[in-house]
Amino acid sequence: MAMADSGALVGHGRLAVDSGTGRAHGKAILLGEHAVVYGAPALAVPIPFLTATARATRVPCPDDGGEGISFTIAGPGPAASAPLPGDGTRQMLAEFREATGFSDDLCVDVVVDCAVPQGRGLGSSAACARAAVLALADLCGFGLDAATVFRLVQASENVAHGRASGIDAVATGSDSPVLFRSGVVQELSTNFEGRFVIADSGVGGSTKEAVELVRRRFEHDAQAKEEFVSRASGLTGGAVRDLEQGDLAGLGARLTENHVLLQELGLSTDRIDRLVAAALMAGSPGAKISGGGLGGCVIALAGGPGAAEELGRTLREAGATRTWIVPMRRLASHVD
Ligand code: MEV
Repeated sequence: MAMADSGALVGHGRLAVDSGTGRAHGKAILLGEHAVVYGAPALAVPIPFLTATARATRVPCPDDGGEGISFTIAGPGPAASAPLPGDGTRQMLAEFREATGFSDDLCVDVVVDCAVPQGRGLGSSAACARAAVLALADLCGFGLDAATVFRLVQASENVAHGRASGIDAVATGSDSPVLFRSGVVQELSTNFEGRFVIADSGVGGSTKEAVELVRRRFEHDAQAKEEFVSRASGLTGGAVRDLEQGDLAGLGARLTENHVLLQELGLSTDRIDRLVAAALMAGSPGAKISGGGLGGCVIALAGGPGAAEELGRTLREAGATRTWIVPMRRLASHVD
């Protein structure tokens, strides 16, 4: 499915109710982050139990006019209570108005309860934006199609990341693992039995800074960019075959190789490298940094549920502040 293809608005947009809700969830990138910004494919899995839930409520307009739409984010993390709109949200709202004809006379409070931790490469900005877009659309009685939701979330993501590939905007709304390339999405249905342990290094990273660091690195070195994109593309393509064939060892080796590529770009940290080493020492078939980098999370492959629980324990002993288990298949379990 090509996300840029359509953009239709389904429904009439009457404000029939006083409140609307929207939901999204976190995601983890298996392979291809950063390279996906330059047209390479990337693979991501949804994290359905890390949710972002938004409620948009119609409120009386303040006498001074105000913003019309006010945003608050509730949930874990130091920046969680920061009021929005930030620049990304403003851009998203401007495009929402344009797409839907949402009236300037309406005043709405949007509260997003976000369990996706911020700055961990798990898609919190996209999940919040997606939940907010869906809540506003629900309030107004608009049925937005997938391409319009994508475009609106991307309006916010392009500001949040500096330059966003779109993979987070898609994966935070998908029930299945996704293969994403240049705006084209393939939802993968897989029987792969492996599980992924996600381990929080305890230190946040900024995707925007990371994307900018990579941009500067490639600005004057076209060959480095070409090599990175080509090697990452090969790894992601190989990983899709590994998933089809149930090849745990093959997939693990590609994850670790992708970690080295991202490490060479300066996107890893000592803590992350220690967690990757601890996972490999403990017998994980492969591990890497996941998401924007400069902090955030490690994703490590494990076999069955017992191995994943054990790997999670090992990673917490090695310094991870918390871990989660995400199966490749849809049903998720959770370890803290
Ligand atoms: C962030 O989750 C993934 C990056 O590749 C940025 C993007 O694709 O927008 C680092």
